[in-house]
Amino acid sequence: MTKPKVFITRRLPDEVVDPYKEHLDIEMWPSEVEPVSRQVLMEHAQSSQGLLTMLTENVDEQMLRKSNNLSIIANMAVGYDNVDVKTAETLDIAVTHTPDVLTETTADLTFGLLMATARRVVEASQYIKDNKWEHWSPLMLAGTDIHGKTIGIVGMGRIGEAVAKRAKGFGMNILYYNRSRKPEAEESHGASYADFKGLLEQSDYVVCLTPLTDETHHMFNKEAFHSMKKDAFFINASRGATVDEEALYEAIINKDIAGAGLDVFEQEPISSDHPLLSCPEVVCLPHIGSATKETRYNMMKLSLDNLVHHFQGKPLLTPVP
Ligand code: DGY
Repeated sequence: MTKPKVFITRRLPDEVVDPYKEHLDIEMWPSEVEPVSRQVLMEHAQSSQGLLTMLTENVDEQMLRKSNNLSIIANMAVGYDNVDVKTAETLDIAVTHTPDVLTETTADLTFGLLMATARRVVEASQYIKDNKWEHWSPLMLAGTDIHGKTIGIVGMGRIGEAVAKRAKGFGMNILYYNRSRKPEAEESHGASYADFKGLLEQSDYVVCLTPLTDETHHMFNKEAFHSMKKDAFFINASRGATVDEEALYEAIINKDIAGAGLDVFEQEPISSDHPLLSCPEVVCLPHIGSATKETRYNMMKLSLDNLVHHFQGKPLLTPVP
C-alpha cells in the first residue's frame, strides 16, 4: 500500500521522525535552522498530501488553492495565525495545532520573563559581565516587587490560566480580560474579570497571551499604553502583531510605562537595530515560549500523531477549533 506523502518544513531529529516512517512517506527540509523558501514550500505543498509546518511558514490562500493533493496541515505550534484556516476549511483541508503539551512550559517562560523584567535580571547579569560591579549600594539595580502586585492577564486560555496559577503562588492579585468570562478560572485562581481598559488601568503587570486574530491585531496601541500606570510593565508571550511596536517604543522612552518583556515581535527575527533593543527597560527573547527539549519533542510527536490519525481515518487529536 502506498504511504501518504508528507513534507516537514524543518529538519527534526531522526529519533522522533523515524518511527513514523512506517505510516508516512516523509520528506524533510534539510536545515534545522534555516526556514524553507516559499518557492520550495509551494512545490512540496502541491505534491504532498500532508504538511508539518512551523510558525514561520505562511500557508496562505494562494498556496492552499494551488495544493490540490493536500488534505492536512499539522502546525507545530499552539498559535495558527500563520495558516489561512478559513480557506483550508473551504477546501476541506484539515488543520491541527499543538495545544496542551506546551501550556506549562510556556507559562513558566512567561512568568520568568515577567520576573526578569521586574527584577532587571538580564541587565544585572550584563553588569557583572561588563565588569561594572565595583561596589554594593542600596539602590544598585533595584527593581520592582512582584508579590502583592496586580497582574492583568489578557487572554485567559490554557496558558493564561497556567500563568494565573503561578501568580497566585506569588501572592498576586489577578485580573483577566477575555472574550468570554471564565467562571471556573475565577473560582480556581481567584481571578477577577475586568474590561480591557479597566485591566490596563489597574494592573502592575499587563500580560498578553491572547491569540492573534483580526480583532487582537495591534490591540496594544498608543491608547492602551497610555491607559497603563506609569510604573507598570507590559509582557508579551503571544504574538508580536498584537502590539503596535512603535507605540510601545514611544511609551517606554516617554516613561508612560516602566518597561516590557517581549518574547515575540511583529517581524521575526528582529534586526539588530530594532529600536526596542536599545531600551534597557526592555527584555527581549527570540520567541522561546515553548522551547524546552521535552516540550518541543512532544510538539513534534503530537503533530506527527495528528498526521497518522488523519491518514488512518481516525479522529484528529488536536484540530484547530
Ligand atoms: C506557539 O506554539 O504558538 C508558540 O508561540 C511557540 O513557542
